[in-house]
Amino acid sequence: MSDNNIDSVLIEERQFPPSKEFADNAVIKKADFDALHKAAEDDYEGFWADQARDMLDWHTPFTEVLDDSNAPHFKWFADGKLNVTHNCIDRHLADKADKTAIIFEGENGDTRHISYQQLSNEVNQFANALKAKGIKSGDRVVIYMPMTPEAVIAMQGCARIGAIHSVVFGGFSADSLRDRINDAGAKMVITADGGTRGGKIVELKAATDKAMDGGCPSIESVIVFQRTKHDIPMQSGRDIWWHDAVDGQSTDCEPEWVGSEHPLFLLYTSGSTGQPKGIQHSSAGYLLGSILTNKWVFDLKDNDVFWCTADVGWITGHTYVAYGPLAAGGTIVIYEGAPTIPDAGRFWKIVETHKVSIFYTAPTAIRALMKQGDEFPNKYDLSSIRLLGTVGEPINPEAWIWYHEVIGKERCPIVDTWWQTETGANMIAPLPGVVAAKPGSCTLALPGIDADVVDEEGNSITQANKGGFLVIKKPFPSQLRTVWGDDQRYIDTYWPKFGGKYYLAGDSARKDADGYFWIMGRIDDVLNVSGHRLGTMEVESALVAHKGVAEAAVVGYPHEIKGEAIFAYVVLRGERPDSGIDEELTQELRAWVGEQIGAIAKPDQIRFSDNLPKTRSGKIMRRLLRNIARGEEITSDTSTLENEDILLQLQGKA
Ligand code: WT7
Repeated sequence: MSDNNIDSVLIEERQFPPSKEFADNAVIKKADFDALHKAAEDDYEGFWADQARDMLDWHTPFTEVLDDSNAPHFKWFADGKLNVTHNCIDRHLADKADKTAIIFEGENGDTRHISYQQLSNEVNQFANALKAKGIKSGDRVVIYMPMTPEAVIAMQGCARIGAIHSVVFGGFSADSLRDRINDAGAKMVITADGGTRGGKIVELKAATDKAMDGGCPSIESVIVFQRTKHDIPMQSGRDIWWHDAVDGQSTDCEPEWVGSEHPLFLLYTSGSTGQPKGIQHSSAGYLLGSILTNKWVFDLKDNDVFWCTADVGWITGHTYVAYGPLAAGGTIVIYEGAPTIPDAGRFWKIVETHKVSIFYTAPTAIRALMKQGDEFPNKYDLSSIRLLGTVGEPINPEAWIWYHEVIGKERCPIVDTWWQTETGANMIAPLPGVVAAKPGSCTLALPGIDADVVDEEGNSITQANKGGFLVIKKPFPSQLRTVWGDDQRYIDTYWPKFGGKYYLAGDSARKDADGYFWIMGRIDDVLNVSGHRLGTMEVESALVAHKGVAEAAVVGYPHEIKGEAIFAYVVLRGERPDSGIDEELTQELRAWVGEQIGAIAKPDQIRFSDNLPKTRSGKIMRRLLRNIARGEEITSDTSTLENEDILLQLQGKA
């Protein structure tokens, strides 16, 4: 925590309160906000029980609220039963059957509108197809799909019958897919013949075949959605087309009424080891966090069109595409492709065409589009937008102001939402009709979320702007339940300090004089590249798996658009190239890492050296490597290095 020097912190003075009109019409107004906070403070469990009764439809009402007898394994509403798709779809059919649930636009411009009734039919047919293929409650199903409505239908179809899905982002490689399939012991993969992105076909089926060839003994069948219609091989007995699987299936499917704690999904994310972990979420608690924050933070109302640009391969695409907005009866937009096809105006064109009113994206996308110039957004009518959001990393004030002025026309509140794969839903974020924004701050914790910044001993830091550990002090319904297949890792990662009492988020943060939270960075070896989480160890493991590489160390450095970029120091088995630079080998290793993990993990820069900077006890001095990658002065004491000469090589000076 020694980097968190108060003197080095820039204090943002600007504040942006909502307009009176927005505040007067918000789902949560000032009086509601105060009442919610008071209710959560007065009777924490009663508060959550009320929310769970109000927001969700129960098949069997719960009588137990929080069971913390086996902390840090918490149960919420454990004796209640419900079904997630019943809450996301069936309960809207009485008055919203014809309302559009999903507006889809493909990269090539094809569009579809799917009503709640159609969604119900398709989810039920697909759920019946899953059953026909032998999938039962509790079975794991991997979904490796392009951003199409079928990705959501596949997820909801699993939830309908109590199967546990694990969505793998389509940008991950065959090797990553295989690891995730095997870790989860999945019985089925749902994929597509491909998706279109950046004008090219993403070969999802080819990657699935490659994953299988490497050995996925638990897989019994593969369902293939036909999206691109280009030729792909189908393996008879294993592969079946989606349209054949649903053909003749009934549009009725009795929902599986599951206990609140029944796992809804696994989602793999990176940590500080080489192996990603399967974050396990519950059904009721997760859905509650999801619907609540869609209403509170995104102010989602009946006539809104909500576009969260995240892929369903990430938690944001689960909570703010596939589940939350549907549970709230909303209309969502799904866009298949890249933001720059045919040009950098695509997002804004989609906003105009579909009259998007709530727009949620990542700072990296905002920065990339900002760089393309104002003429793109200025070509389109953005007057339908009334609320903007960001997620994934801290947003720099320059990008915030651009978003506010050029996209929001200074009219729209911006919600900067801090949360994680593990928390399931927004934790720290402004309620847009009440809390004034400050560019770069995620503002205040939501009602019922006891977030704080603490020191090494777990004491609250009361001094303004002094950095510490970001923690959540009370269990909350939407939090992860465990790490799939590795409960010890769950305990060690999230509850290692403070006597196991507080959830340790893994971020450092500070609170300003108004109590606003400012996220400062990770406390572990996790990188945040374009809002995506990557472990330095994962990239290192991928590099050393290459036959020419003896050792590797990976650090992050600031990047104008990605937020953070990857710098790899590599020791070869053979001769070190002159001056530590070799374009050809760099390209080869980048491609290699792309194959091992996925394109997002490719190092931006690689420097070759004869050795890595190690202390006499063999520990790599990462701080030193970070200093060099960032072009900073070396602040560490280098006299403890085994080989001080290596410094010049690492700096590219020898
Ligand atoms: C990590 C979680 C939650 C969905 C996307 C990422 C960083 C997330 C913010 C924000 C500053 C943020 C944190 C966090 N992060 N939101 N608004 N401001 N940092 O999910 O992959 O689980 O990553 O993203 O470092 O720990 P994730």
